[in-house]
Amino acid sequence: LIKFNRSIGQNCEIIDDLGKLPNIVRYTLKDISPTNIMIITDSTVHSHYHKRLDDALPEKYSVDWIVLNPGEDSKLFTNILSLSEKILKLRIDRNSLLIGFGGGVITDITGFVASILLRGVRWIAIPTTVIGMTDAAIGGKTGANTESGKNLVGTFYPPEHIFVFPDFLKTLSDRDITAGWSEIIKYRLLEGGDLWNKFGKQNLTTTPTSDIIEHCIRYKERVVQEDPFENGLRRQLNLGHTAGHALEVATAYKVYNHGEAVLWGLGVMLQLSHLNCGLPEDVTNLAQQLISKFILPESNVHPDTIVSHLASDKKRINNKNIWVLLNALGKFNFYDQVPEKLIYDVITKQLEFLKVGKAVR
Ligand SMILES: NC(=O)c1ccc[n+]([C@@H]2O[C@H](COP(=O)([O-])OP(=O)(O)OC[C@H]3O[C@@H](n4cnc5c(N)ncnc54)[C@H](O)[C@@H]3O)[C@@H](O)[C@H]2O)c1
Ligand SMILES: [Zn+2]
Repeated sequence: LIKFNRSIGQNCEIIDDLGKLPNIVRYTLKDISPTNIMIITDSTVHSHYHKRLDDALPEKYSVDWIVLNPGEDSKLFTNILSLSEKILKLRIDRNSLLIGFGGGVITDITGFVASILLRGVRWIAIPTTVIGMTDAAIGGKTGANTESGKNLVGTFYPPEHIFVFPDFLKTLSDRDITAGWSEIIKYRLLEGGDLWNKFGKQNLTTTPTSDIIEHCIRYKERVVQEDPFENGLRRQLNLGHTAGHALEVATAYKVYNHGEAVLWGLGVMLQLSHLNCGLPEDVTNLAQQLISKFILPESNVHPDTIVSHLASDKKRINNKNIWVLLNALGKFNFYDQVPEKLIYDVITKQLEFLKVGKAVR
């Protein structure tokens, strides 16, 4: 057995050197022995890395590249329908292999399509963004968007393998690096402990290291193992996402990317946790200081808009938002009775920061 990599969980590996891509690909394909291969990616990832992956694929396989437009619109159910038709016309059979090669948008789409075509074909995820590596490609959730909202259609359908090559992050934009840090901060607030203290020394403008990525993956895998279908515990991963999601919708997905909106949502969560659930002031302050280092696009959103989007959030249960809030570092709880007046006041205050491109004060 040749060891190329660090195995994280059942089917996820981190490979610290992109030079090992050909070997990994060869070994994996030998094992899977697919009829043919279809690689789904977006044009940005394609332009950077198409040759790299193509060269790594043994010649004997028939390979089709399907290159989508970058961005959330590719996840629209209607676009996924035409994508499915396209793949069906490419001689797919039950023994074909799909490879999702890109950020969270691409792995969400590939997993979804893999789960429905021919009632399920095998797929591999090669995430290329921080959000993809630490979150989207992990845990088996796939998703598509409809007119009614984001990720409201989807399946649980884990890939056969997840190959994490942090080297891919070298070409990521500053905005997408920032977006990635939001989820890392989320994980660390949930986990607490020593790692949190290390944040003080970390340069948050640089690309997260593979150790940091590994830690996030391990945390998510633990949570998912306990609650694979999100009936309870897994909902903790929604920390900062209730308000963040409302901001994304309120600005029609045009102003903030997911991670930026989550940074703002974490600010709202910290304030609510402090005022409603006893999160100590020093933790609140330190976390806010961290988040305040990031620069966000400016916007002028009315609190009523956010509140109305909270009210139509499809994740509501019994007509109530379920807030994940912190009682302490590493200690979260679910709340469906947060006073409306408090929510309104906190959101009003936090929206002021967005006017000057800040998530928190
Ligand atoms: N399934 C899940 O559990 C889960 C979890 C979290 C997020 N998500 C989904 O993930 C999506 C967000 O993920 P994302 O931020 O990765 O989005 P994304 O796929 O849109 O990628 C962000 C941008 O980075 C570019 N890019 C990707 N890799 C690159 C690279 N190596 N170099 C340069 N540019 C690169 C893309 O072209 C895109 O413009 C959302 O749709 C969200 O719903 C899913
Ligand atoms: Zn997220």
